[in-house]
Amino acid sequence: MASEVSLIPAPRRLERAGGSGAFGGDARTGVDPSLGPEAYRLTVSAGGVEIVGGDEAGVFWGRQTLRQMLGPDAFRRAPITRGPVTVPYVTIEDMPRFAWRGFMLDVARHFLPKDDVLRYVDLLAAHKLNVLHLHLTDDQGWRVEIRRYPRLTEVGAWRRRTRMGWGEPPLWDERPHGGFYTQDDLREIVAYAAERHVTVLPEIELPGHSQAAIAAYPELGNADVVDTAALEVWTDWGFNRNVLAPTDGVLRFYEGVLEEVLEIFPSRYVHIGGDECFKDQWRKSPTAQARIGELGLRGEDELQAWMIRHFDRWLAARGRCLIGWDEILDGGLAADAAVMCWRWYGGGIAAAEAGHSVVMCPQQEVYLDHVQAHGDEEPVPFGWVHTLEDVYRFEPVPPRLAGTPHAANIIGTQANLWTEVAENRSRVDYQAFPRLVAFAEVAWSDLPDPDERDFEDFERRMSMAHYARLDALGVGYRPPTGPYPWQQRPGVPGRMHNKPRKTWRMAN
Ligand code: ACM
Repeated sequence: MASEVSLIPAPRRLERAGGSGAFGGDARTGVDPSLGPEAYRLTVSAGGVEIVGGDEAGVFWGRQTLRQMLGPDAFRRAPITRGPVTVPYVTIEDMPRFAWRGFMLDVARHFLPKDDVLRYVDLLAAHKLNVLHLHLTDDQGWRVEIRRYPRLTEVGAWRRRTRMGWGEPPLWDERPHGGFYTQDDLREIVAYAAERHVTVLPEIELPGHSQAAIAAYPELGNADVVDTAALEVWTDWGFNRNVLAPTDGVLRFYEGVLEEVLEIFPSRYVHIGGDECFKDQWRKSPTAQARIGELGLRGEDELQAWMIRHFDRWLAARGRCLIGWDEILDGGLAADAAVMCWRWYGGGIAAAEAGHSVVMCPQQEVYLDHVQAHGDEEPVPFGWVHTLEDVYRFEPVPPRLAGTPHAANIIGTQANLWTEVAENRSRVDYQAFPRLVAFAEVAWSDLPDPDERDFEDFERRMSMAHYARLDALGVGYRPPTGPYPWQQRPGVPGRMHNKPRKTWRMAN
């Protein structure tokens, strides 16, 4: 029986030549740069299987397509049947729509052990996603070993207890939680990802979301207004007022952190966070106010912009580019700094029009920690409802930029998974899948405008072939009929957004 050709993400051009043949060996491969970056041509004929890539990445993506054609068992870790598989004769010509096809894993709120991260690299690669963004530091945990500052992990990688879900009154899991990656663990993850043409993007948050660092080194906080020595790694979720002090000492400290980070991660971009920095402590702090006066700034917002620009220049001087959440736009940036747009499309439009590269990941569309269906049985409902169909109809290029030269500044798109309410691998799997599959098609394939997308065809390919591939991979996805009993979290409260969700058509 010929294997089903239900490819996801959908290739740009697929032509069936009629007939099929047995395949049991290896594909012939080659590189033809004229095809373009990451592109490939896959031919299955009586003469065998051939994959020609525009580069090595293209050959690799071609292999992922071939694997899908070999049937779900090709996704197991070892073969379970012997002998060749029958493969239909086809010619496939394919290339990605976006160069940046990312997924962010928040390993700070809940630590995900190294093996789980390596597994996610495989899952991304199988879907032709090519950036794994690791959110390595936050109020609730510091997850990267920094040799010159050992307390960042000795103290900052552990918290006393954890808030369960996000309801009132708070519910606590009294078990300590923590963990971190050694530098060698991260080198292993980076190397493993590189073998799969996935880039690992490190994020070191500043100046907000920094309580774990301050708990480890109290001098990093605004010690003139709060007793930073009394702070612990945060056990709660949400906005946190304990932010870094805008001092030379803090700048030097984070330069030291980043020096080690650059040695581990070869990624051209380095993410420095920049979102949700509360300014109350700076308003009250004589040190922060003196700095504002000394620099001739017009207030606390400009003080944050000054800190971001410092690291923008510092990274540029080392041949890297800063990327940060869209709040970094306030205050001006170096030309090659890039913006990750999460607060709807506005920041991304402004950044693209100003010539910056933009990665679109609006929370209204592609935050995979948000709940994926209505109904009481959904585990820990948070955010807006983003169904599989909603994600399939996500369009990274807003209408205002479409057809203009600025559209080329949207270098890609990313789905983000924060882990306040996803405490382990099975919860992460449930939130990510199957929506990450729909997202992969948005990021790779040449889809029409959202309303014209053929979601039924996507669902057909899912049920004909792709759920079986996910089963073979051991992914604990949300079944189309709803969660299994063991995927539910009765009694763990969530928090839904009450404002209506905006849609892509409003993005102007
Ligand atoms: C974010 O979701 N605060 C970037």
